[in-house]
Amino acid sequence: MSQTVRAAVFPVAGRGTRFLPATKASPKEMLPIVDKPLIQYAVEEAVEAGARKLVFVTGSSKRAIEDHFDTDPELERALIEAGKDEWLRTVQGIVPPGVSCIYIRQGEPLGLGHAVLCARPAVGDEPFFVHLADDLIAAEPSCLNQMAAEYARHGGSVIAVETVPRKDTSSYGIVATDDNADGRIRRIVEKPKPEDAPSDQAVVGRYLLAPAIFDKLESTGRGAGGEIQLTDAIADLLDESPVYAFSFSGQRFDCGSKLGYLKATVAFGLRHPRTGAAFREHLDSLV
Ligand code: UTP
Repeated sequence: MSQTVRAAVFPVAGRGTRFLPATKASPKEMLPIVDKPLIQYAVEEAVEAGARKLVFVTGSSKRAIEDHFDTDPELERALIEAGKDEWLRTVQGIVPPGVSCIYIRQGEPLGLGHAVLCARPAVGDEPFFVHLADDLIAAEPSCLNQMAAEYARHGGSVIAVETVPRKDTSSYGIVATDDNADGRIRRIVEKPKPEDAPSDQAVVGRYLLAPAIFDKLESTGRGAGGEIQLTDAIADLLDESPVYAFSFSGQRFDCGSKLGYLKATVAFGLRHPRTGAAFREHLDSLV
């Protein structure tokens, strides 16, 4: 019987080099899509999927993330005095009741696997989500919700995948699965060249992991790029504990890249209740 997933880990200690200079002194995860930072979309998705313990693995220049999820009595007082009740509710609702935020510092950016391992003391011996905020996924129900439903069906670990062009395999973890429908992963490789890739199924930034991954991360040495890779630890887990590839339904935007960020801004701007209609009119006038 699978457990409810209560913990979500947000590794936010990366340097965000693809988005320089914007990310020199500000976190990539605080880049807004219309009016909300990426990390707030991430938190909303995790909370909607049942997470109540939010673990942020942070690094240097990431203080703004803590401030964003903290209360701000001075701002709230100013909004009350100005009678701006709607904005007050918006600010007060950023962290819903019953949800706690825990911040752990990753001393050095030694890779995604290392960042996830840093969260171990806060997560404990439970299954947990890993959410990479720069992969923004527009989906209904949300991607993590779809994954939680998949996990309820068969337990194990669940990893979101999508089909990518062969030429792009060297930017992703790539999986090979059983031929039958359950999607159990038999092989996973970090950033293989197209000619070495076992398939065109790429791992994207949503994971639901069994706590057994932590022991694997402890023993995983440095892999591609000299970093401790989550992919390598998952590869070590495959024989002991089932890991399933899950093709979610929805549209992913790689907001860690400038082009992906622009595409997300257009997509979310068009569907935003306040800006959507006027923005569509503006775009129509351009083409
Ligand atoms: P990326 O590969 O996107 O790296 O990391 P990055 O540093 O954020 O961005 P680029 O590639 O330099 O532009 C994937 C995720 O893992 C986190 C990042 O914050 C991002 O969410 N990460 C990566 C860490 O938390 N720590 C690390 O040491 C490395």
